[in-house]
Amino acid sequence: MSRVAYVNGRYLKLSEAAVNVEDRGYQFADGIYEVIHVFDGRLIDAERHLERLARSLRELRLPAPMGAAPLLRVIAEVARRNRVREGLIYMQVTRGVARRDHAFPNPAVPPALVVTARRTPPFPASAAANAVAAITQRDQRWARCDIKTVGLTANVLAKQAAREAGAAEAIQYDADGMVTEGASSNVWIVDAAGHLRTRELSDAILPGCTRAALIGLLDGTGVTLDERAFSLAELRAAREIFVTSATSFVKPVIRLDGTAVGDGTVGPVTAALFDRFAAHVRGDGRNAR
Ligand code: PDD
Repeated sequence: MSRVAYVNGRYLKLSEAAVNVEDRGYQFADGIYEVIHVFDGRLIDAERHLERLARSLRELRLPAPMGAAPLLRVIAEVARRNRVREGLIYMQVTRGVARRDHAFPNPAVPPALVVTARRTPPFPASAAANAVAAITQRDQRWARCDIKTVGLTANVLAKQAAREAGAAEAIQYDADGMVTEGASSNVWIVDAAGHLRTRELSDAILPGCTRAALIGLLDGTGVTLDERAFSLAELRAAREIFVTSATSFVKPVIRLDGTAVGDGTVGPVTAALFDRFAAHVRGDGRNAR
């Protein structure tokens, strides 16, 4: 079965789906995107992703290509045509096609919308099955990392550095030695004093939908969150480290720059939060669209 993409109003075979060479996403990375996890045919945390999409559009002064309800219908149709019951949805909006000129096209052109879907391996059976190694590296990105733009050059280089080091994620830190986030994830630690920490929201990190969902799931776990940035030294001294994203869920980091984190196995807080998030994904009533 060939895969199908939605491109500006049409459903096309992926091999035939294309955008114009003067699309501003292609020439300027002048666009934004979202990635949504699909489990059992449901979009996980759909509302959060659509709200963030709307925010990214506003921040870049991009017009919305369509309203939330028709967009959800397109997403469902792309998932259906690709027979994706477990996988991910990718969607991207750019400022459209115009003769190359840095400033916005005048008169404005319609935004370009692309939606694709693909299957992913089954949801990990346990936290341990989802554990990875990570490296650290200086954050080289721009000053508005809170916007989910398709301008990902620094993230690409960070991820490639991780891959070449035999790791799955690059944990980035700023000029003050404070951890920002992963190349494609938010970062959490259980610090040396036993407190769960993740950096507070600002323009330095993406407001992760998985991050927000997990914060909402802490109730009743006995775990309290200290939403406060931590340093590279605190990261190295952490009892537990994990990262979150729509594609990695709660992902334990058990080696950092080649050294074991804690005793090198998944810690108890990470394991409990993995289970809690897995229940959320499997559908404990909070994911209804
Ligand atoms: N990335 N920070 C960055 C830089 C990210 O790219 C992502 C997600 C996150 C986590 O956000 P969320 O929990 O909403 O997925 C944090 C997606 C998965 C990607 O680029 O493929």
